[in-house]
Amino acid sequence: MQHDAIVERHDNVAPIPFEADAPFLRVIGELPRELNGTLYRNGPNPQFDSPGAHWFVGDGMLHAFHLENGRASYRNRWVRTPKWLAEHDAGRALFGGFGRKLPDAPADLTDGGVANTNIIFHAGKLLALEEAHLPTEIEPGTLATRGYYNYQARVAGSFTAHPKIDPITGELVFFGYNAAGPLTPALSYGSIDASGKATRFERFEAPYASMVHDFIVTENHVLFPILPITGSMARAMKGQPPYAWEPDKGAYVGVMKRSGTTKDIVWFRAEACYVFHVMNAWEDGQRIVADVMQFEEAPLFPHPDGRPTDPQKSRARHCRWTFDLSGNTDRFQQTYLDDLTGEFPRIDDRRAGLKSRHGWYACANPKLPMFGALSGIVHVDGNGRRLGHYLLPAGDTISEPVFVERSKDAAEGDGWLLAVVWRARENRSDLAVFNATDIEAGPAALVQLGHRVPDGFHGNWVGAQ
Ligand SMILES: [Fe+2]
Repeated sequence: MQHDAIVERHDNVAPIPFEADAPFLRVIGELPRELNGTLYRNGPNPQFDSPGAHWFVGDGMLHAFHLENGRASYRNRWVRTPKWLAEHDAGRALFGGFGRKLPDAPADLTDGGVANTNIIFHAGKLLALEEAHLPTEIEPGTLATRGYYNYQARVAGSFTAHPKIDPITGELVFFGYNAAGPLTPALSYGSIDASGKATRFERFEAPYASMVHDFIVTENHVLFPILPITGSMARAMKGQPPYAWEPDKGAYVGVMKRSGTTKDIVWFRAEACYVFHVMNAWEDGQRIVADVMQFEEAPLFPHPDGRPTDPQKSRARHCRWTFDLSGNTDRFQQTYLDDLTGEFPRIDDRRAGLKSRHGWYACANPKLPMFGALSGIVHVDGNGRRLGHYLLPAGDTISEPVFVERSKDAAEGDGWLLAVVWRARENRSDLAVFNATDIEAGPAALVQLGHRVPDGFHGNWVGAQ
């Protein structure tokens, strides 16, 4: 990626070259006393410049904001992946392109994992996730890397950055794509129970090889979206894009009962689209409703011949998918719920897979020319209607908003929204704390950093108890 060009565009994608500890940060306003824990975030932050490397394959850097009794501290660390360690020793990049090894890299170096996409806490383990590799275990607090975690060797291969945790059973449900090797149409599916034991791991064939970033889990069903950012080894061998936008392949979503097996998957079809992220989904009688952020054309990936996709269509909007399980049709419905450009949808995770009445996502400012930059938050009800809309000062950008409930038994949506905000004029970042049901009032508290946190992907709150 061309970092010089990025800086000239006044955005916040370029990496920061250091690790730091800030024990006492300045707080503007007052941090709610109930916020007692740590917001962990993850995102790409390449250790070394590597010409042509996709933004998605930058080394993962973790950012931890610890809040306790109204005080705030911060720590950031790269994840010490095998790639990071080898490049650190070499003092230069050894991988480029889409995770491809550079020609002069050592022959025995094969693992290009970057652990850069999400960080979750389940069954007592803090795990940095990136969809092409196993989870990487991280020590809470210090952010030290403990290494790959494979659930007593019961899980292998790729592991999504977007597993779902069932709020009723505590079970973690996951999948992996490229499960039979790079650019293959095989998927894996598995589950980990609330105690951390792998209880299921199987593989199946999807209609074609594609990039599968997220999936859908309800109380009784799992849905696998196969959408046409296709993967092709034939293209890759010819030096063409390994992943490309091929709308003619169509959109498939495989629906499976959680009590069934992958042999029973029923495939639904619809118009070509792409979805990186699912807000939530639930069952409604014989229907499954899934709210997603849908792109008409894929962003960030070209057509097979290298032409870019249409920027007017390569933006995501809140969209509802509806599946009729009564056997009347194999088509699913796609209905846009808003026209705002948005991404990084979140809910009150206590309603994951269940009918929810609150959702939030980061949105673009429709009045600004910087069309794609996320610079505000939308709060929506269970039908996508806006309950609140907050825009940052022009030029500033915002991360995914993470919901934290006020207490274990607080009503759905009663709590705070935590997002990292880049202050363009000062070129540094704040942690912003919003009242989740009144985002229009603006941040109730700001935790100020002296440096910037580059735009990243995902994070989660881990409460102190
Ligand atoms: Fe994601």
